[in-house]
Amino acid sequence: MSTQTVATTQTSQDGTASIVRIDVRPDGVAVITLDAPGESVNTLTERFGTDLRAAFDLVTQDANVTAAVLTSGKKDFVVGANIDMLKAITLAADAERLSRDGALAFRAIKASKKPVVAAVHGQALGGGFELALACHAIVASDDKKTLFGLPEVQLGLLPGANGLMRVAERAGLQVALDLGLTGKNTRAAKAKKLGLVDEVAPASILLEVAVKIAKELAEGKPRARPGFKFDGPHLTLLALEKNPAGRALLFRKAREATRKKTHGHYPATERIIDVLERYGDKGFDAAAELEARAFGELVVSETAHRLEEIFFATTALKKDTGVDDPQVKGEVPSKIGMLGGGLMGGGIAYVSINAGVQVRLKDKDDEGVGRGLHYVRGILDERVKKRQLSREERDQLFARLTATTDYSGLRDAGIVIEAVFEDLALKHRVLREVEAVTKEDTIFASNTSSIPIGKIAEASKRPHTVVGMHYFSPVHKMPLLEVIRTKATSPQVVASAVALGKKQGKTVIVVNDGVGFYTSRILAPYMNEAAYLLSEGVPIETLDRALVDWGWPVGPVTLLDEVGIDVAAHVGPIMLEAFGERLTPPDTMSKLVADDRKGRKNERGFYLYGKNAKGKKKAVDPSVYTTLGIEPKVGAPVLAEELQMRCSLQFVNEALRCYGEGILRTPRDGDIGAIFGLGFPPFRGGPFRYVDTIGAAEILRRTQSYYDRFGKRWEPAPLLVEMAKKGSRFY
Ligand code: NAI
Repeated sequence: MSTQTVATTQTSQDGTASIVRIDVRPDGVAVITLDAPGESVNTLTERFGTDLRAAFDLVTQDANVTAAVLTSGKKDFVVGANIDMLKAITLAADAERLSRDGALAFRAIKASKKPVVAAVHGQALGGGFELALACHAIVASDDKKTLFGLPEVQLGLLPGANGLMRVAERAGLQVALDLGLTGKNTRAAKAKKLGLVDEVAPASILLEVAVKIAKELAEGKPRARPGFKFDGPHLTLLALEKNPAGRALLFRKAREATRKKTHGHYPATERIIDVLERYGDKGFDAAAELEARAFGELVVSETAHRLEEIFFATTALKKDTGVDDPQVKGEVPSKIGMLGGGLMGGGIAYVSINAGVQVRLKDKDDEGVGRGLHYVRGILDERVKKRQLSREERDQLFARLTATTDYSGLRDAGIVIEAVFEDLALKHRVLREVEAVTKEDTIFASNTSSIPIGKIAEASKRPHTVVGMHYFSPVHKMPLLEVIRTKATSPQVVASAVALGKKQGKTVIVVNDGVGFYTSRILAPYMNEAAYLLSEGVPIETLDRALVDWGWPVGPVTLLDEVGIDVAAHVGPIMLEAFGERLTPPDTMSKLVADDRKGRKNERGFYLYGKNAKGKKKAVDPSVYTTLGIEPKVGAPVLAEELQMRCSLQFVNEALRCYGEGILRTPRDGDIGAIFGLGFPPFRGGPFRYVDTIGAAEILRRTQSYYDRFGKRWEPAPLLVEMAKKGSRFY
């Protein structure tokens, strides 16, 4: 097959360099390459649409061209619509027009008499996937970087260029619901199995395969309709979808499951279901009409703005080295030491080997070592089961981990992270032991959840190498890493801790040292207020439900059971000592600890677990009220809003204190830390965005009214008072 080009075009209508390059091959196949000049990725913009249309006009008019292949000159295909462009739109009508124009341009591809085949390598996400779906066939590169997905829901939007319907056409409604509602990515092989793509080929011959299919289509050779040729449960499902009663059931279930998760806070999810339901009942055009209107409304919604801001903040953090000096560059070590193979140590070891780093795990005894290895192996095996890893890949990853009960093999570790018990004397001891066997510049990082790093560093001979790396449990799932610097920590050390965190796939914020740093500190008054509400007789379920309805992933009492009542009881006095009266707890904790209630871990907490639960999903253990000496006011009218405000405003007030005291570098870090580390409702944008949305004056008024009722623990943060007075905003 000749690859010689007979004609190349790359100018836009206005004479500037085009986003699109067309190479017409001697065999009559036009290769259309998407390659936005000066950009690292292709995103869909208005300009992109104009250039693409012009390219297709040329292809249609050129009698020598019989078929086209659409591909990318970047490492990814097209990563989606340009979010800056979406964010700038203020009128729903403008967004709706954008959606209609995009859909029309894509429909023109589908309607073209000359077949168009998408040759996809890298990410084809959102509008990029919709563009590929508008082609007559899709060939995907077989590597792991090739991903398909409709992530719009994560930005509070829905796919606006017919993507949901095109996925449903190819793979059925269930798959369209799944991709649309989760926003998850699908790899090439899975996409092929689902019928979303027609062919998978090695990257080296991707274009050749696409050209071959394009020619076959041009010659009128029929290709098997993708998506419906495999057997098993999927086929039954598709048959079910054809039947109106089956469809009604499918959508009812989807709505129930979605509302249970979103509590109505994420309107995009409802619209995605609406559009697919309309498609099932009334067909493509009727669904497209609904889709364009919904897209218009969602683009200008508060929720979408908050979620877009989180996206921008996370993107900015990816580029942030964590230090001000641009000369300082962090170094990801090729090997780390991991002290403690418990819940956290095991998790940190896993994310490290997964990032390509060698890990030497040290625990105090064989049992600890065994537990750590078993934990890591368990995560790897789970990934093999989910077909995310082959057995060979798992073995290669696992081989990066070695374990010991002494300090051997730590000499060449760039960073040693400790996750031993939360005990200052023990942390001092292991720090000294580590410094005795490592090099002068080996970094010592502590994963403590409450002890100030400066206190740990008191035992160090080289305090500039001591830093905090605070991970969240379960480490392989939680996206945040909080890096804590003391006054002595060197910028180089901070930058290296940040670099390692990013390599491990974390979003990293850097905060200044203090008791509880940022995340543990803001959680403390929130949990404390929940304990006060309980002691006032608010029933446990009522409290948890109110906070979940506000948008928290779980209620505070459930969280306490999960984290461990013993852990909270341990941290409480540390906070009390540091922050005094403000954090005086009611005497709930001591009573619970005296009754050996630790939460889920020993199946004795606020809720029933194990055999005591008697198969019930989630029931409160009524005996806990006896332990606490409280009579729950069951049936008494409680305003959910009061419960929500009392807990959440404590959290917000403390976040503002942290910023006021210089613990946080920026409100952005505070918002990301609260959302990614603690589950503050994303659609509210984080505590600082929340204050901006409601207004500092109003937040102060409420906080002040609680102060008048409850005293000291509601003292407003000085920064809140100042901002309310000036009428200023964080952003
Ligand atoms: P864990 O009790 O599961 O694990 C601690 C491990 O350290 C045990 O395997 C123990 O044998 C080992 N160990 C004790 N002395 C040692 C020594 N001298 N040398 C080596 N290993 C030793 O505890 P977990 O939950 O993993 O917590 C560890 C640290 O992480 C604590 O400082 C905790 O505050 C912090 N943390 C815990 C979080 C959580 O959600 N569990 C979250 C964030 C931080």
